[in-house]
Amino acid sequence: MYTLGEFIIENRDNFSFSTEALLRLFSSIKLAAKAINKEVNKAGLTEKIGSSGITNIQGENQQKLDDFAHRVFIESFKSRNVVCGIASEESKDFIVIKGDQKKAILNQYIVLIDPLDGSSNIDVNVSIGSIFSVYIRKSSNNLSLGLEDFLQMGNKQIIAGYIIYGSSTILVYTTGNGVHGFTLDPSVGTFYLSHPNIQFPNIEKMYSINDGNYARFPEGIKKFINYCQEEKGDRPYTARYIGSLVGDFHRNVIQGGIYIYPKTALSPEGKLRLLYECNPIAFLTEQAGGKASDGKKRILDIKPYKLHQRTPFICGPIGMVSKLEEFMKK
Ligand code: AHG
Ligand code: MN
Ligand code: MN
Repeated sequence: MYTLGEFIIENRDNFSFSTEALLRLFSSIKLAAKAINKEVNKAGLTEKIGSSGITNIQGENQQKLDDFAHRVFIESFKSRNVVCGIASEESKDFIVIKGDQKKAILNQYIVLIDPLDGSSNIDVNVSIGSIFSVYIRKSSNNLSLGLEDFLQMGNKQIIAGYIIYGSSTILVYTTGNGVHGFTLDPSVGTFYLSHPNIQFPNIEKMYSINDGNYARFPEGIKKFINYCQEEKGDRPYTARYIGSLVGDFHRNVIQGGIYIYPKTALSPEGKLRLLYECNPIAFLTEQAGGKASDGKKRILDIKPYKLHQRTPFICGPIGMVSKLEEFMKK
């Protein structure tokens, strides 16, 4: 059984950038994932549940684990001389990392993270996750980093993935050559390949949406929900919604389902963040044979104009997402 490290080395020719950089990036991600996993597992015992008392840049009540996970990712990327800048859902501005100048050739990677996704589920023992997305800086290495290094279109991602802290802890990633999942064996602290080449199954089984917002949805979304609830064949679609994007996506990609977070009257631009949540999940979706859209256009082709930009987000099997887009057009 491959470990994550062995799998990366075995498949290094499928990655068109430096293998050393790839290994260093994953070394940081694995380290952060294990440190966060350990804290998540004992959250109820270590005063890590509950609010940090801070309202974050998203205008949301930051949880202690949001802040912890943010700091763990920054520290582990700092130590590996491969990342020159990080933007995080939990930080107003991007963070510059001054690496070892002797390794400057490596220090050209930009990482965007949602350090802790699904934070409303922390205190109630429901699956949560971390999401990451990697780009190459656009500005020249001898200049200071600028916003343009972070505001790249999703189609420029070179790596995207997530860690789900669920009934087991799984790291799922793509470098543009399929989607692969690795389960953490906590007894040895190693991720082993458990889900090679994840693809949306041919069955379309589920829809995931917070329909408490139903009255505030655009008409096309309401019609799509009605369509999902109508009898088709012997049964309608099943509704499943956790409230952690990572958890909802992970289930949908394995069992066949669509995830929808539309704009609502309360969140007129949508709720999910383009750079930290939608772009990485969209890259994974497409690599798993699915489609990711804002209801009209491809997520990965959106040109970002600010770090904490939000967008409506739909991802899932191509047929279901295309059907929803048809309803949005009418
Ligand atoms: P985060 O915890 O990083 O702020 O993300 C929460 C997001 C996403 O994970 C989830 O799908 C969605 O918010 C849930 O929102 P609602 O509670 O409005 O359904
Ligand atoms: Mn999130
Ligand atoms: Mn978050």
